[in-house]
Amino acid sequence: MPTALVTGANRGLGLELVRQLLGRGYEVHATYRTSKDGLEALTCSQLHEHQLDVRNEEAAKAMMASINAPLDVLINNAGVADGRWSSVEEIDMDVVREVLDINAVAPLLVTQCALPLLTKNGGKVAMITSLMGSIDDCHSGKSYAYRASKTALNMLATSMKNELRDQGVSVVLIHPGWVETDMGGPRAPLGVEESVAGILSRIEEQTLESSGRFVDYKGESLPW
Ligand SMILES: NC(=O)c1ccc[n+]([C@@H]2O[C@H](COP(=O)([O-])OP(=O)(O)OC[C@H]3O[C@@H](n4cnc5c(N)ncnc54)[C@H](OP(=O)(O)O)[C@@H]3O)[C@@H](O)[C@H]2O)c1
Repeated sequence: MPTALVTGANRGLGLELVRQLLGRGYEVHATYRTSKDGLEALTCSQLHEHQLDVRNEEAAKAMMASINAPLDVLINNAGVADGRWSSVEEIDMDVVREVLDINAVAPLLVTQCALPLLTKNGGKVAMITSLMGSIDDCHSGKSYAYRASKTALNMLATSMKNELRDQGVSVVLIHPGWVETDMGGPRAPLGVEESVAGILSRIEEQTLESSGRFVDYKGESLPW
């Protein structure tokens, strides 16, 4: 039975990732920050819940030690939005630091902690990033912290691809689309089921040779 770990799994895309991974026969380690929320309804023997604020290094290490079994897939999904349309004059630097910490530094930290468990010769790391991190695609501007956090995440993942490849582990950067979640809002055109089905197809087709690609949930290559 393949094993996956999903961060930020109590709601939104993370919760649907857990639901569909269980449906595909995975054993799933699902993390939640404070409340289990939707995870409660998925309780089964293949689901293991772990409380984790993804910024907490000690807790991440302790969680990996408690899992202590091979991981085939790590999905760094947890993330936060920012005060999206603040002007330069309005930017709150504490918010910027927090968004960078959660969206960019934490996926690096969780990957570092998970690396000893990731299956050599076939392990996969998926970063749930965003087209908003694309410098080429940044036409409307603003959303400073969120955009920069996802650009940083893209570079961190790209930087690690050679080292991970040497260990037989691949990395893929996936934009889920504009999805109807608390973050995406009610006007989003895409439902979580379709987005997550696409994300999981991208992960399943991932190979060492294609490591480092930046694609959307449908597999379209995105500009950096
Ligand atoms: N929805 C979209 O349109 C869209 C588009 C592009 C990219 N994305 C990306 O997709 C991912 C999932 O987004 P979503 O739409 O599902 O958002 P969401 O519904 O707001 O869910 C975000 C999840 O991240 C968790 N989280 C936030 N900060 C955390 C922390 N410090 N430690 C642990 N967990 C934390 C939240 O936990 P709590 O419940 O505890 O807050 C929640 O489970 C994010 O990385 C986001 O940037 C989303």
